[in-house]
Amino acid sequence: EKKLVLDVDTGVDDAQAIMMALAAPNVEVLGITCVSGNTSLENSCRNTLRVLKVCQRLEIPVFSGAAEPLVGHPLSAGSFHGQDGLGDAPDPDAPGLELLQTEGAVEAIIRLVNENPGEVCLVAMAPLTNLALAVKIDPTLPQKLKGLFIMGGNTDSRGNTTVCGEFNFAADPEAAYIVLNRFFCPTYIATWEFCCENKLPWSFCDNWLAQDSDKARFMKSIFKHTTDTVATCARYQREMTAGPGFVSCDSYAMAAAIDDSFVWVSEPVAVTVELQGTYTRGMMVLDKLGVLEKEHQVLIMRTVDLESFKGMLMDSLK
Ligand code: BDR
Ligand code: CA
Repeated sequence: EKKLVLDVDTGVDDAQAIMMALAAPNVEVLGITCVSGNTSLENSCRNTLRVLKVCQRLEIPVFSGAAEPLVGHPLSAGSFHGQDGLGDAPDPDAPGLELLQTEGAVEAIIRLVNENPGEVCLVAMAPLTNLALAVKIDPTLPQKLKGLFIMGGNTDSRGNTTVCGEFNFAADPEAAYIVLNRFFCPTYIATWEFCCENKLPWSFCDNWLAQDSDKARFMKSIFKHTTDTVATCARYQREMTAGPGFVSCDSYAMAAAIDDSFVWVSEPVAVTVELQGTYTRGMMVLDKLGVLEKEHQVLIMRTVDLESFKGMLMDSLK
């Protein structure tokens, strides 16, 4: 059985990825740690509990983490995910925040990994603040991890938030830098370009959401804001280099964590993050020539077996 810890800023695609993990056979979700990102920390926690409620899995512990990036102020992705982070389709009976664990997210990451040395994969689908703080407190953490799956960064200068920055890295560049320079464990990265190049046809999304289940009805309600937004968003349309479709970013990292035989990756490459540039702060930098002489190299995801990926998404709403 695979043991996963999920680090999330629960917006719409985080919700999709969490549901995918919960539905996957042979996966045990040890805990879900929340951070501010797509929405405030409080919304991120509440949204995570809402997802667990719909899936009837409120026994999974949820931990509250960093409310802001290491440096500067939080970015918001409200225009894309809705002001509440979940498409502004509130649940009047949403679980209360008293269901959160009293232990903090950073402490929980350290504890869960240390209790299961060599067994845990971290799936990081948000600004990397919690992970960066965890490795600062416990520098031995990476060597005890089985793997790290990150949704974030980019392989060329294509951003989705700043000119050259993908949201999760741009929202906390210092944290992304720390993680990419300290987590010396097998690392897979689902970059923004990779996600855009492996998008889901809208016709699939229609079938996916038309399933007769509470989970599908929930997903349909939180997803409406996304479909309305992308239909009118010129920037999103420009991303659709290989035809239209939906990019469920965090789900790709999750799919790889569940079964890495579904993804094809690049040759290992050393990566870091730009912390200075006026236009490039938060951009992932690939050290293709090995100039930095870093030993640790990561695997950049290139393609996914789209049929298997669709199957996982379908099953997640059954
Ligand atoms: C990433 O940023 C967030 O908006 C999504 O949840 C995803 O983690 C995509 O750039
Ligand atoms: Ca996310």
